[in-house]
Amino acid sequence: MLKDALGRQLKDLRLSLTDRCNFRCMFCMPPEKEFHFLPREELLSFEEMRFVVEALAELGIRKVRLTGGEPLLRRHIDKLVRMLSSVEGIKDIALTTNGFNLKEKAALLKDSGLKRVTVSVQSLKEEVYEKIAGRKVNIKELIEGIEEAIRVGLNPVKVNTTVVKGMNDDEVVDIARFFKDMGVTVRFIEYMDVGTLTEWDMDKVVSGKEIIERINSEMPLEAIESEDKSEVSKRYRYIDNGVEVGVITSITEPFCGGCSRIRLAADGKLYTCLFAQEGFDIKSLVRKGIDKEDLKELIKDIWTSRRDRYSEERFSRRRKTNKKVEMFRVGG
Ligand code: GTP
Ligand code: SF4
Ligand code: SF4
Repeated sequence: MLKDALGRQLKDLRLSLTDRCNFRCMFCMPPEKEFHFLPREELLSFEEMRFVVEALAELGIRKVRLTGGEPLLRRHIDKLVRMLSSVEGIKDIALTTNGFNLKEKAALLKDSGLKRVTVSVQSLKEEVYEKIAGRKVNIKELIEGIEEAIRVGLNPVKVNTTVVKGMNDDEVVDIARFFKDMGVTVRFIEYMDVGTLTEWDMDKVVSGKEIIERINSEMPLEAIESEDKSEVSKRYRYIDNGVEVGVITSITEPFCGGCSRIRLAADGKLYTCLFAQEGFDIKSLVRKGIDKEDLKELIKDIWTSRRDRYSEERFSRRRKTNKKVEMFRVGG
């Protein structure tokens, strides 16, 4: 069991497959900004990813979550899923996606060994979605993708909604009701200050507490006590039908105390926090032929000296930094 300097165990990997995305969400890749994406040869190959995952599995990682950018844009992702599901020790492979083309890909991904999927849904109104995602989004197709994921057994399918005041916060109860009726868990995420490119402002944050109060006043909820300290979401269930709903409160009630995630970014750097300033360049070592035992030693050093708790320190930091990894590179 590998613990960091604050006693947090290394348990999960978030693996970013690409820094590209076909959306331009205001809280990640604002459309008015210019992006320079990594050339293909700078991305880790599937073989390189598998090698790092093998090393991490030997260090205790059991869960891999595929992220991006948009992970479904990475060609032959089903092959990668197959390669990772045969790594000894890996018990759970999940995917976080914007849902585009999920309907077509869900069955193949399930067959390849994917266990679960989480789909981002920012609004149920096309004009609002377009403002948030910087492009038109066909909501009917998005929901059909979620239904298909449920049908093929990528369960539990979850939905993530980032709440931005003045954009989609008036839809919280409608979104909650829609997915309650579908039997799908939705987690509302407080708008976070990830990366350096967004117009994040505390005034645009709606607290998880307020979100839960609004939902509870229309559809009564009870809190679920979770035993897993590393869970990012505070969980509730509707009293009448037992479906779950949650809030991810990185701003108002940070959860760094249980943070068990390491992140491997699309450029082959390892990060120990979503808000990290620097990553560790694993790719060049892998390309130089580092031995797996040496890689494990290096990762051990990185993890055991880790002290990240950005969200807990957000408002007390004396010097604000303008150097942070971007969300589309490190994988949300
Ligand atoms: P499961 O517990 O396996 O279902 O996955 P998850 O909830 O960790 O994965 P998901 O990608 O759905 O994460 C939900 C959202 O929580 C992400 O999109 C991020 O916005 C946020 N998040 C996840 N991990 C962290 C973290 O370590 N720190 C912070 N601040 N936010 C996180
Ligand atoms: Fe793409 Fe997700 Fe970023 Fe939106 S939040 S731009 S869907 S990677
Ligand atoms: Fe973990 Fe960093 Fe998120 Fe805190 S802010 S929970 S340390 S990733």
